[in-house]
Amino acid sequence: MNKKYRKALIVGNWKMNMLPSEVKGYVAALRGLLPRQKTCDIAVCAPYVAIPALIRAARDTRLGIGAQDVSAHEGGAYTGEVSAAMLSDLGLKYCIAGHSECRRYHNERSHNVNEKVVALVNEGITPIVCVGETEIERSRSLTLDHISYQVKAALADLTGAQVRRCVIAYEPIWAIGTGKTATAEQAQEICCHIRSVIRKEYGARIARAVCILYGGSMNADNAAELLAMPDIDGGLIGSASLRPEEFAKIIAATAQEEATA
Ligand code: PGA
Repeated sequence: MNKKYRKALIVGNWKMNMLPSEVKGYVAALRGLLPRQKTCDIAVCAPYVAIPALIRAARDTRLGIGAQDVSAHEGGAYTGEVSAAMLSDLGLKYCIAGHSECRRYHNERSHNVNEKVVALVNEGITPIVCVGETEIERSRSLTLDHISYQVKAALADLTGAQVRRCVIAYEPIWAIGTGKTATAEQAQEICCHIRSVIRKEYGARIARAVCILYGGSMNADNAAELLAMPDIDGGLIGSASLRPEEFAKIIAATAQEEATA
């Protein structure tokens, strides 16, 4: 599958890290480290309360801004929740949906993820839809079935044109925050499978345009190898995105990938 149809994308997921007062320093440091060549789009998905500071600090940079979760509801009596319209009003470009930590700690099911994806798409925000298997599912050879199910369920009810604008992140749960990265071959196998699921459901034109990321202990040392894979278009990076030097090195790795393409 030809990568020329897709631009690389590197997204930091700060999770519940970074105080609003720390954001300005982070962006200033990152800005000084970014490679001149714009070989990828870059974004950071921040905790809600850090987003206004991030918008201010990133104003004249090329850093895209995203949230980490969204309510499936449009508005009203949902204490503590934040709607897609609110994120759109702030001008956000991205929002993660279905991260394994939300699935696990908020008991989020695939149909909830789908509702969130639909809410985001309706507001013109690009959902970064996370899918991934547990270690047990992998050991029982259930990975491909599980991923097919999660992808189809998350994208249900979307048109091909809407799917084209979604980003899918393959994040094996056993690799998240564990320092245990999937090998480049393992990650490629599943990202290729995700693309083939999209091809069967929406056709080849949509499948070749959809951006698919790998996430799970991606860092400056392993990024280039992962990003060199034909179906891996970028990364969703947790802990390594908290250090500007490390995050900038991962961003720079997309240039090496381009040089070898
Ligand atoms: P990690 O997290 O890079 O710290 O493994 C990735 C993620 O959960 O998005």
